[in-house]
Amino acid sequence: MGTPCENACTKLFNCAVIDQPMDLCPGLDEDSRMAFIEGCIPTCADNPALRPIVEQQDDCTQLVNTLKGLSPAFADSCTDEGGMGGAGGGPGAPTEEEIQAIFNANCNGCHIGGESGELSLAAPFTADTVGVPSSQANLNRIEPGDRDASYLFLKITGRHLEAGGSGGRMPLGGAPLAEEEIEAIGQYIDSLE
Ligand code: HEC
Repeated sequence: MGTPCENACTKLFNCAVIDQPMDLCPGLDEDSRMAFIEGCIPTCADNPALRPIVEQQDDCTQLVNTLKGLSPAFADSCTDEGGMGGAGGGPGAPTEEEIQAIFNANCNGCHIGGESGELSLAAPFTADTVGVPSSQANLNRIEPGDRDASYLFLKITGRHLEAGGSGGRMPLGGAPLAEEEIEAIGQYIDSLE
């Protein structure tokens, strides 16, 4: 998960890449901007413009509030739906409702009623997933706090066979979920305790 500084920088970096970095953060000098774009994690603590921000702020809520003073547009991009949640369940982590919507749209033609894979993703999807053993592998479907140990996450990223699972990548027979949807599910799982 990294230090708060790394987490904060990951969040900033993701936001900056997603939302046209050049138009955001007018309070930052050009070198700082490039540090975002080229990977701010190794450099953030040494970056002159970022240092005071990351040193004084050790969680993403405060960080975003500080950024609002510099650039409201940038800060908003961190909290909008397209923004990245902070590691460890920061305020930007996707909500259960957002994840339910992804399942409803992509999975629940098959996963209502628990006939496919003995799994129901009907609302609330948490009932049949969080801490519930998979019927295909020796893992829980959702392991709170750990996407890579969550069989459901492995099923949507096509890594389920490596974990001793079976069957196809989900959605079965369809295109993979969009990258943002997969990342949202991963962040949601990582944010659970
Ligand atoms: C076209 C029907 C269909 C769709 C759409 C579909 N699934 Fe499945 N799913 C199945 C079937 C059938 C199985 C059991 C066979 C297999 O795994 O290939 C299964 C198995 C699973 C399992 C394993 C269950 C267990 O006990 O561990 C998971 C997890 C899963 N699906 C998640 C999803 C998710 C998440 C989505 C949406 C992103 C999705 N599925 C979309 C049909 C579907």
